[in-house]
Amino acid sequence: MSRRSSSTRADSGTSSMDERERGFGGRVVHGHGRGRILGFPTANLAVEPGEPVPEDGVYACRLWIGTEPEQLGATISIGDNPTFGDVHDRRVEVYVHDLDRDLYGSDIRLEVAVRLRGMVRFTSLEELIRQTESDVVASRAVLAAQARHPLPWHPSGLEDGGAPRRTRS
Ligand SMILES: Cc1cc2nc3c(=O)[nH]c(=O)nc-3n(C[C@H](O)[C@H](O)[C@H](O)COP(=O)(O)O)c2cc1C
Repeated sequence: MSRRSSSTRADSGTSSMDERERGFGGRVVHGHGRGRILGFPTANLAVEPGEPVPEDGVYACRLWIGTEPEQLGATISIGDNPTFGDVHDRRVEVYVHDLDRDLYGSDIRLEVAVRLRGMVRFTSLEELIRQTESDVVASRAVLAAQARHPLPWHPSGLEDGGAPRRTRS
């Protein structure tokens, strides 16, 4: 496990993240189907080469499905699910908040709000479930706070809805 991917710090933001990595997406494909058993069904994204996927970890994200205008919230996991040891590729798994709908085949766009932690190899499923529960609580809180106080770089915080505002000092 690399130092960065094993980090458990709750990053205060995504300041170190390349601006281009805030937005990415892909098509929903089938995963192992374990998510529903764990209580957190996830949509697994097939990401096209060249998409700027952030480093392994758990993130709070804003999400859009296809051309639907509604903005949803999600908690996502990026990595090879080290708890299981049978996942040999890098997965982007999306737990969409407040949505009980099969997204298989849909195209999804994501925008990172914050990085919550790194990927962890848990020694029991109970630990993974407990941590995932608190990730979702933290993710919802961050997304709600950012919706109340949009950051200047987020389009919804701009009067013209356009390019990020740059302040000069
Ligand atoms: C919010 C969230 C955090 C996760 N964190 C981890 C983690 O730290 N370690 C890990 O091995 N898997 C983690 N996972 C991935 C789960 O292991 C995975 O979603 C589960 O095995 C279901 O996978 P499947 O859809 O391919 O069946 C996380 C998933 C979510 C939604």
